[in-house]
Amino acid sequence: MIAKDLYGDLSDKDFKMISDYIYDNYGILLYPKKKLLVKSRLQNRIKVLQLKNYSEYCNYLINNKKESIEMIDRITTNKTDFFREVKHFYFLRDEIKKGFFDKIKSDKLKVWSAACSTGQEPYSLAMMLFDILKSEHYDFSINATDISKSVLEKAVLAIYPMALINQIPDNYIKKYLLKSKNNSEAKFRIAPEIRSKVEFSVHNLLDEKINLKHKFDIIFCRNTLIYFDRETQLKVINNLLSKLNNKGLLFLGHSESLINMDLELESVSPSVYKKIN
Ligand SMILES: C[S@@+](CC[C@H](N)C(=O)[O-])C[C@H]1O[C@@H](n2cnc3c(N)ncnc32)[C@H](O)[C@@H]1O
Repeated sequence: MIAKDLYGDLSDKDFKMISDYIYDNYGILLYPKKKLLVKSRLQNRIKVLQLKNYSEYCNYLINNKKESIEMIDRITTNKTDFFREVKHFYFLRDEIKKGFFDKIKSDKLKVWSAACSTGQEPYSLAMMLFDILKSEHYDFSINATDISKSVLEKAVLAIYPMALINQIPDNYIKKYLLKSKNNSEAKFRIAPEIRSKVEFSVHNLLDEKINLKHKFDIIFCRNTLIYFDRETQLKVINNLLSKLNNKGLLFLGHSESLINMDLELESVSPSVYKKIN
């Protein structure tokens, strides 16, 4: 459905101002063909703020620092799934079975799901790791971060529409999901023992200063680098590497690659890299 044109056009000048702002602060590249998308995503915000048009919105954005949080919530693409790109989960499971804990010389696996969206990625990891490790003397913890506060609020709630349940393996559905007793509410919630393994916080991948307490053995940063240009990708990867332990594994999205980037990484499987130094 085409949104009604209540606030006039988004001029090229205003679009440039917004796209430059987003690039400078969040690294996301918005090509001119995204103008209509930006226009429709910001329309409701202009209504809520009771502004007249997009130019007024641009002024508001420049003069109100907190508006950037509201804006980026509307602009980012948050598509995600449970067990998305499932081969990564199999690869990690196999690495653990082959003695990954001996390699990292620790009995606690530290995982970071960077750009976690609404939580499906970290909860998929938590279900799998809980299942593999529950009868072992090993443990794990997951930090999950995103730039968007609204996706993190959904992630913390951990309540999802029943339509997504098919993405989760049957044995995990039985063990780790709570289904709503109210039949009119077709929803499920992630069980508390899984939720308790994941800690969510806001983090911008462009920030060199990373407010996470420790380094990680596993970092998932998938399907986000595609929104950045090469220079920003390199910066983000270096930021992630500063938090990855030696011999730790970095998982990127299947369409993302580090070809021709001179990094202390060895490719170990499609879009999976091991830190070496
Ligand atoms: C397409 S989702 C990917 C979610 C998940 N990793 C997956 O593969 O299913 C991309 C996420 O990146 C987040 N994002 C975009 N730019 C970011 C930035 N500069 N810092 C942190 N997160 C960012 C968005 O808010 C969004 O939730």
